[in-house]
Amino acid sequence: MIKKTILLLLFTASIYITCRAQSAPQLGKASIDEIIKALTLEEKIQLIVGGGMPGFSGDNAAVGETRNLVPGAAGTTQAIPRLGIPVIVVADGPAGLRISPTRKDDSKTYYCTAFPIGTLLASTWNTELVENVGKAMGNEALEYGVDVLLGPALNIHRNPLCGRNFEYYSEDPLISGKMAAAMVRGIQSNGVGTSIKHFAANNQETNRVGNDVRISERALREIYLKGFEIAVKEANPWTIMSSYNCINGTFTSESYELLTGILRDEWKFKGAVMTDWFGGKNPPAQVYAGNDLLMPGTAKQGEVLLAAAQSGTLSIDDIDRNVKRILNLILESPRFKGYKYSNKPDLKAHAAVTRQSAAEGMVLLENEQTLPLPEQIKKPAVFGITSYEFISGGTGSGDVNKAYNVSLKDGLINAGYKLNNELTGSYENYIRTENEKNKPDPNDRMAMFMPKVRPAEMIPEESVLAKMAAETDVALLTIGRVSGEFLDRKIPNDFELSDNERKLIQEVSKAYHAVGKKVVVILNIGGVIETASWKDLPDAILLAWQAGQEGGNTVADILKGAVNPSGKLTMTFPVNYMDAASSVNFPYDYQFNPQKAFGNTANQGEEKKDIVRNVDYTLYEEDIYVGYRYFDSFNVNISYPFGYGLSYTQFSYENASVSATGDSYTFNCTIKNTGNTAGKEVVELYVSAPGESMNKPAKELKAFAKTKLLQPGESQMIQLIVSKEDLASYNETNAQWVVESGNYTGKIGSSSRDIRQTVNFNVSD
Ligand code: BGC
Repeated sequence: MIKKTILLLLFTASIYITCRAQSAPQLGKASIDEIIKALTLEEKIQLIVGGGMPGFSGDNAAVGETRNLVPGAAGTTQAIPRLGIPVIVVADGPAGLRISPTRKDDSKTYYCTAFPIGTLLASTWNTELVENVGKAMGNEALEYGVDVLLGPALNIHRNPLCGRNFEYYSEDPLISGKMAAAMVRGIQSNGVGTSIKHFAANNQETNRVGNDVRISERALREIYLKGFEIAVKEANPWTIMSSYNCINGTFTSESYELLTGILRDEWKFKGAVMTDWFGGKNPPAQVYAGNDLLMPGTAKQGEVLLAAAQSGTLSIDDIDRNVKRILNLILESPRFKGYKYSNKPDLKAHAAVTRQSAAEGMVLLENEQTLPLPEQIKKPAVFGITSYEFISGGTGSGDVNKAYNVSLKDGLINAGYKLNNELTGSYENYIRTENEKNKPDPNDRMAMFMPKVRPAEMIPEESVLAKMAAETDVALLTIGRVSGEFLDRKIPNDFELSDNERKLIQEVSKAYHAVGKKVVVILNIGGVIETASWKDLPDAILLAWQAGQEGGNTVADILKGAVNPSGKLTMTFPVNYMDAASSVNFPYDYQFNPQKAFGNTANQGEEKKDIVRNVDYTLYEEDIYVGYRYFDSFNVNISYPFGYGLSYTQFSYENASVSATGDSYTFNCTIKNTGNTAGKEVVELYVSAPGESMNKPAKELKAFAKTKLLQPGESQMIQLIVSKEDLASYNETNAQWVVESGNYTGKIGSSSRDIRQTVNFNVSD
């Protein structure tokens, strides 16, 4: 009897619990407003503060096991199971998905594809190609259970030394915006989200969590925000990541003007904004500004927000507005939709995408009748430690855990070349010994984010070089650079060649030229380096950038002539570092202390005194004169201009014309392949404004296109369209975009300093 009563009670209780649970509105079934009504204040705050980052301060206990949904992902939101709200997972980054390749008690692997870095992709000037790379990248996110990929990154290359330029696209906002839009379209076509970052003016790593960017409204709008505006308007990214820095005294994540005024009211952005990891200081100010999600989320942030809401200093309406945006984001996510991810993306197919796309972004800087290597060249000599340890990408959150990385040595072997065992053997021994000495400390938490110490360049003895020059057909020599999050690059040994590197190029060139053989330098770098002082020594220079995991194969494709290079620079290579207008106001001589930077980043809300004391702000004194806008307006001598790149063939530009219809101008120009090899040409349209009623750069890129693969003798008519609005500049006096009227010149060219056709047109009020 007692047993029966207990059973009956249990049964009634379970019905009661089920009914209660069912009576709570469920996400996806009830309206968002009903869900918001059903949420407690604590739950609302849970939704706008991420799930934490165990091991990196501020673990958010609420998440627990959800952390392990996708090990190695950068973060998650928090779940509210009673209302049917799941967590969603976000993971880096701009060159491919960054998750842990192995898991505890699991023999399977979870490698991702290391695609080419952003700078290389932009150097293709091919938005269709970038969109295709995005499709493959987004597919890996989808198939590994990630809902939002934290990229693309599109900050402007303001200065050659920014440690994260490799993640970014260009010194020019039009290229940055168009590339980002293409990448967003590609990734999001998989039904996963993107987070375009870092919004905005995040152009240096030194004191990155506290630096104040002091900038004019015009430069901000025309140079630093423009790319984001294009990406938002053309591709609707699901999310945007605010940056670490301040702009004119306010953290971007706390700026209502930026996140609500400009982003939402002006640009009509409909998605959600998340902070960069541990970014900003004042959670209520972030919520008010329209920074919907604080990432990765700390328990402390939750407490501060709760107190602010309870005391009335933070309005519930603002919280609800942000909650709504997060719920909308969750509703769109594959996880909410119940997508059964395979954990098995087609890595082979994506490796092929990597190899092919990288080939279009490598830039041929010099070529004295050297490349492609003639067929009789069978035995190249491979110099430079980087040839053996090719660099696939940068470090930090822009890194990818890939299954393999093809070196130049391996790429050449794969392409059928025969290498000299004596030389490769001595390099490999040297590298092994040096790497053993420089092993990173396994207890150093920062080590996994920082570039590892690379061996100094080895210089073979003169007699060895003479022997190699006699025994091999051509010298291939790679110079490498790696950089990443937390620190900017330096002038000595980074922007400039090290003494050993310079000596190696000199000695190898001397030995090979003495016997009438050629030298090719390959630059496996992520950012601009000094080239003017040594570029005349070798016979060819191929800027290979960091091409992802197939790098060595791609370089071999180009050296061999299987692919004709068609990449062009999306930034200027200056003669000297100090020639760049921003250099005088860049902290190039700052000494970085990783431990302090790390501690400060992790301790949300603490004063960042140690770093801030010396470099608390950066003057953007050069204003709108960034990159070629400066070099070309002030006729500064440069090493390689913006938009420059050679091909194995030549192109002529003919019959340029312009016609106006309504508020848009259509430029036509016929491009003809006048050489003997099939190839593609990047066509650049610059516009020079009258510059009478307002200050204007000598020319600005307003449109670009890439031809199809043109056979020798083949032509293609390229059409470029510019709207009147594209010609506008930001007038600070009345806070408006203004189009100057008068006579303009359209300059169609092969680089910013190689204009082939000009056409004039008139713009009236
Ligand atoms: C980086 C972001 C990245 C985030 C998550 C931050 O340190 O600045 O670009 O997405 O970490 O890993």
